[in-house]
Amino acid sequence: MIHPGTTPFAVCELVTLPVGEVVTVTPPGMAPISVFHTSDGLYAIDDTCTHQDASLADGWVEGCTVECPLHEACFDLRTGVPSGPPAKIAVRTHDVSIVDGTVLLHLEQKGDAR
Ligand code: FES
Repeated sequence: MIHPGTTPFAVCELVTLPVGEVVTVTPPGMAPISVFHTSDGLYAIDDTCTHQDASLADGWVEGCTVECPLHEACFDLRTGVPSGPPAKIAVRTHDVSIVDGTVLLHLEQKGDAR
C-alpha cells in the first residue's frame, strides 16, 4: 500500500534488479535505503542495522528475512522488526512500487528535507 503524502524517488529500472539482488540508494537528506528483490516481491528498509553500524545490504536474505552480516540479528523485510538479539529496534520500512518498469520508493515528506 502506498501511503498518501509520500514523494516518489526513482531507484532503478526493474530489469537491473533481478530476484535475489539488492540495491542501496541514498535519497537527499536521508539515510541509505536498501531495496531487496525477493521471490515474494520488493521490500525497502533502512540499510543500517539498528544494533551497530552494518549495512544490511551485505547480509544474507532468506525468504522475507535479512540477517545482519555483523552480529547475525535477523530482520523481517516486511515489517523491519528483528526476530531476536542483539538488535532490539526495528529498521524503518518504506513503500516501494513499480511504475512503467521503474522501481520507486515512496518516501515520507520531512519538512525541509529535499
Ligand atoms: S550490527 Fe547488526 S546485529 Fe550487530
